[in-house]
Amino acid sequence: MAVDHTRAPVLEALETYRREGLLAFTPPGHKQARGADPAVREVLGDAVFLGDVLASGGLDDRLTRGRVLERAEELMADAVHAEHTFFTTCGSSLSVKAAMLSVAGPHEKLLIGRDAHKSVVSGLILSGIEPVWIEPRWDPERHLAHPPSAAAFEKAYADHPDAKGALVTSPTPYGTSADLRAVAEVCHRRGRPLIVDEAWGAHLPFHPDLPSWAMDAGADICVTSIHKMGSGLEQGSVFHLQGDLVPPEVLKLRADLLGTTSPSVLLYAGLDGWRRQMALHGKELMGAALDLVTGLRSAIGQIEGLHVEGRDDFCGPGLADDFDPLQVIIDLDGLGITGFQAADWLRAERRIEAHLADHRRLGAQVTHGDDRETAGELLSALRDLARVAPELRPAPKVEVPPPSELRLAQSRSPRDAFFGPAENVPVKKAAGRIAAEMITPYPPGIPAVLPGERLTEPVLRYLRTGKAAGMNLPDPSDPELETIRVLETEEE
Ligand SMILES: Cc1ncc(COP(=O)(O)O)c(C=O)c1O
Repeated sequence: MAVDHTRAPVLEALETYRREGLLAFTPPGHKQARGADPAVREVLGDAVFLGDVLASGGLDDRLTRGRVLERAEELMADAVHAEHTFFTTCGSSLSVKAAMLSVAGPHEKLLIGRDAHKSVVSGLILSGIEPVWIEPRWDPERHLAHPPSAAAFEKAYADHPDAKGALVTSPTPYGTSADLRAVAEVCHRRGRPLIVDEAWGAHLPFHPDLPSWAMDAGADICVTSIHKMGSGLEQGSVFHLQGDLVPPEVLKLRADLLGTTSPSVLLYAGLDGWRRQMALHGKELMGAALDLVTGLRSAIGQIEGLHVEGRDDFCGPGLADDFDPLQVIIDLDGLGITGFQAADWLRAERRIEAHLADHRRLGAQVTHGDDRETAGELLSALRDLARVAPELRPAPKVEVPPPSELRLAQSRSPRDAFFGPAENVPVKKAAGRIAAEMITPYPPGIPAVLPGERLTEPVLRYLRTGKAAGMNLPDPSDPELETIRVLETEEE
């Protein structure tokens, strides 16, 4: 039967709900805005409250006989070439955990690229899955990690034939991708599933000039944040499934452990609407975004002191396999300032928010929501930034260790270390101790330290100097990073 992508079941059901004027003696207690504080209504607008209804016993009937959500998920699956799609309203932070739980259980092994997001690490802590860390491909010159190679997964399976599957992050928040087809083949030769954390890849299925999409590359499960590169609302995420290595009912059961019983219909509507927009106009919208970014990248490249990182910098032997040009990553080395300084200056002086900021780079994500005007504003702000850079110098120095020193040894499982007896010690005395918490520069959100890793002086120096230079570290127990939570006892 032909699939009709002009339909949007969640949005249509919401319209019907309003048209029929259903009167709810159910949550949410604001009762279609009537009970909400007028001051809140003024800021948020009533549309937010009108779209905020119960998913079952509201949007759909008590027994979900209208199959509203199911139909929306089926349409999404069709649009992105998956067999099954699941909507969630707790971000990819939930989706990725659901995916992990559907592949491995407590004390079972999962091969995971060490450049994973912190939500993967919290999935390990909650589930007791044992990580076998796979090294990303490090670019020592740029101090940047790209997704691991298929060969690295091959070797890890040879060393750990009992591993239940693999998880790779692709694209990374810097836009660099793995050869997903090759990684999937490595997994499938052993009858094991591949999970792709494709949080940054919502747009990939909709244009042939973008890096390959996990479902097309043969992955078994992929996780996508529709709010990152797509036009869903914050927290709207999906996971897609294909093949017979992970039964859909297992994925559903395991996801059910994590999800809310009160999903936001607003977020469902955002997912549903994005799918319709992309199924009908995706190629054209993504094509326009790619054209826009090509011009923008080359104009930024003309600004003295700025280098826009591209395929030549990120892809090649020992580096990434592909690259998403919509992530405009700008190396500021030539200006002698940090990404933290640049991001703060752009917000304070030009009201522009950059996305990524690290010790030497600034990242601006461009989407189909941008146009010549927004790109022009970014460009002119960057020209001004280059002009004022001498006033921002000297930049505080972040002591970034070489890749070999950045990687810590996993001495305990993340779960055992997180729940073990712990104490806080001064950072100066923490080298040699086993971390009992995560420490994550954000964005991009890849933990520099995770529970169970043995701390070293170079990594502690990196975090201390980074923090002093403006690095955002949202998760350690001591926000000032004067102390670190470590395991009390260390018997092997
Ligand atoms: C690679 C990766 N995976 C997962 C997540 C979690 O996504 P969400 O913010 O939708 O929970 C992020 C968020 O930044 C991410 O970068």
